[in-house]
Amino acid sequence: MSCRVVVLLSGRGSNLRAIAEAGLPVEIVAVISNRPLAAGLAWAREHGLPAVALDSAEFADREAFDAKLAEEIERHQPDLVVLAGYMRILSPAFIGRFEGRLLNIHPSLLPAFPGLKTHERALAEGVKIHGCTVHFVTARLDHGPIVIQAAVPVRADDTPDTLAARVLRQEHRIYPQAVRWFAEGRLVNKCGQVNLKDDSASQSVFPTEN
Ligand code: GRF
Repeated sequence: MSCRVVVLLSGRGSNLRAIAEAGLPVEIVAVISNRPLAAGLAWAREHGLPAVALDSAEFADREAFDAKLAEEIERHQPDLVVLAGYMRILSPAFIGRFEGRLLNIHPSLLPAFPGLKTHERALAEGVKIHGCTVHFVTARLDHGPIVIQAAVPVRADDTPDTLAARVLRQEHRIYPQAVRWFAEGRLVNKCGQVNLKDDSASQSVFPTEN
């Protein structure tokens, strides 16, 4: 039986596409967005994936919205919930409910640059290596156990946009890889450190095409 995946997104959905097109042993059983007009939701609909819009503006507060979101997710009985550009902070109750089966991708080499505007901040700090991270979600924002990271060089003439594009290409490699490992039951989380059951694969990616 394949791994049932629910994807949450708020925007263009390129990570959803990368996961959907990677030939993974998973079934995307729902794509849910807090933004009804998200391009990723339209893409899901066009590609025959069950697409659900839950407009956060219609709820009194975060707790009320997250309770409804959790209820909607549970209806699809997922083994895994994937945050793919989901731009809303999740309440502790929500995270507690899905902890251990909730993955996120963040556009920096965590624990550096949690939060927003990671590419601008990386350039402002003058770092020479930047990248992206897939991690399990915990109550501490952008700090959960790390599954896989990819590094990219920072160039002297980079702008936030050129750097973001270079990082995004790697996001599209490592997110499908992380989802595959999860689906295959290969991720072992011991005391906040995630390792692979058989350690032949690498959890660090140093692309050559950059
Ligand atoms: C990605 O950069 C991801 O790392 C961040 O939000 C962005 C989503 O992009 N969390 P997309 O919607 O998957 O194209």
